[in-house]
Amino acid sequence: MSDAIARIDSWLAETEAERLADYLDFLRIPSIGTLPEHREDMVEAARFLAERLERAGMEHVEVSPTGGHPIVYADWLHAAGAPTVLVYGHYDVQPVDPLDEWVKPPFDPRVEGGRVYARGAADDKGQVHLHAWAARAWHEVGGGLPVNIRYVFEGEEESGSEHFDGWLRDNQHRLSADLAVISDTGFFEGNHPAITVSLRGLMYLQVDVTGPSQDLHSGTWGGNVQNPAIALARIIATIKSPNGSVNVPGFYDEVRTITEEEHAQYARLPLDEGVFAAGIGVPELFGEGDFLPLERRGARPTLDVNGIWGGFQGEGSKTIIPASAHAKISTRLVADMHPVRTFERVRDAILAVPVPGVTVEVRPLNDGMWSRVGIDHPATRAAAACLEEVFGEAPYYLNEGGSIPAAASFGSILGLPVVLLGFTNPDDKAHSPNEQMVLANYEGGVRTIARYWQALVDLPR
Ligand code: BES
Ligand code: MN
Ligand code: MN
Repeated sequence: MSDAIARIDSWLAETEAERLADYLDFLRIPSIGTLPEHREDMVEAARFLAERLERAGMEHVEVSPTGGHPIVYADWLHAAGAPTVLVYGHYDVQPVDPLDEWVKPPFDPRVEGGRVYARGAADDKGQVHLHAWAARAWHEVGGGLPVNIRYVFEGEEESGSEHFDGWLRDNQHRLSADLAVISDTGFFEGNHPAITVSLRGLMYLQVDVTGPSQDLHSGTWGGNVQNPAIALARIIATIKSPNGSVNVPGFYDEVRTITEEEHAQYARLPLDEGVFAAGIGVPELFGEGDFLPLERRGARPTLDVNGIWGGFQGEGSKTIIPASAHAKISTRLVADMHPVRTFERVRDAILAVPVPGVTVEVRPLNDGMWSRVGIDHPATRAAAACLEEVFGEAPYYLNEGGSIPAAASFGSILGLPVVLLGFTNPDDKAHSPNEQMVLANYEGGVRTIARYWQALVDLPR
């Protein structure tokens, strides 16, 4: 171990309590990006982060405006001859409903059993926060960072990164780098360290089915009008088959077949299906029968209903035919699918379902590209070595089901290789009530990142 790493480790040990308090302060800011009433909280979270980067000795620290929530930018470019790393994460979090399922309020963080409970503890404020502290450690006792670094932390990841690509293009002149590092993924089932090698893309749309101009008496009109809720049910039942596959013409046309070698890799991952299902409270898993659960997560596209509404939702009964019914529908995309083409196909399949007597409208909400990263890239190998050193175990390589639109943009816009190096525990309950982060993962994350910067000094360029 180098002298610098030894000094950093002891500084990190001394500052653990201070770091935890600071992490909790960050989590207290309700930075829900998608809800307009949290606009000011978003600015506050961005400023908090900017301030922490300043404290870490970073320069050109900026809360950079976009058409939506700001992007926090900072750099430190004094490691002459060393590579430049662009670090990405997001400070926005998902909404917290249903609120009554939280054991403690989502923005009143608590530490219990070695876990930090709060919205954003894992996804992704904890990971963004640990980056600021890894930089600070180098600044305080390492004599400055061993690599050049640019931080780009966005506030619209959870709502589809609408303004991100535009910002990247506008700021391309100050984003030159050799590598992008993203900490917004996590470990494998059983909390084993992992590096993510692919992410799915996303295509999200809304369907609005409109019938009569107002809710109707279902006795007077029942039997004479098409019910919008039933029409919507028919549409959904048409586009998703009972066996779990997507019944949209052309949907699978560009999907790469899983090679025998890839299948063998999926099969080698130690996943206990029973434990997997029980952990989320379902009697059994459900999906395309010909594939392993991890293949269905990592290598197959899918279609889901995220929300569905219309008509009477209150207690008791009310006899109406609703005026309209609505659904939010998302698809997860894999190589080589295209979001726009997928939208057109799903839209056409929806509009082709015969439901006379109502109007059906389909509109896109957001999308993001899938991405795959090079498993043999020297920067990936260096990340694996750092994870093993800190967590005592060589990482698994995972094909994840979630999406990070920015990951693809770093390749397509900036031409950068990407390393997906994240630290969340698999049972972190991201997007769900009682989100949590294992504190040892957070602390190991700070130490892994601190080591990683040193390990990248010799990255061939
Ligand atoms: N951190 C997740 C992405 C993720 C999830 C990576 C699971 C690996 C495993 C990210 O914050 C996220 O939730 N993204 C959204 C993207 C969307 C809104 C464009 C998602 O996947 O739903
Ligand atoms: Mn995230
Ligand atoms: Mn998320």
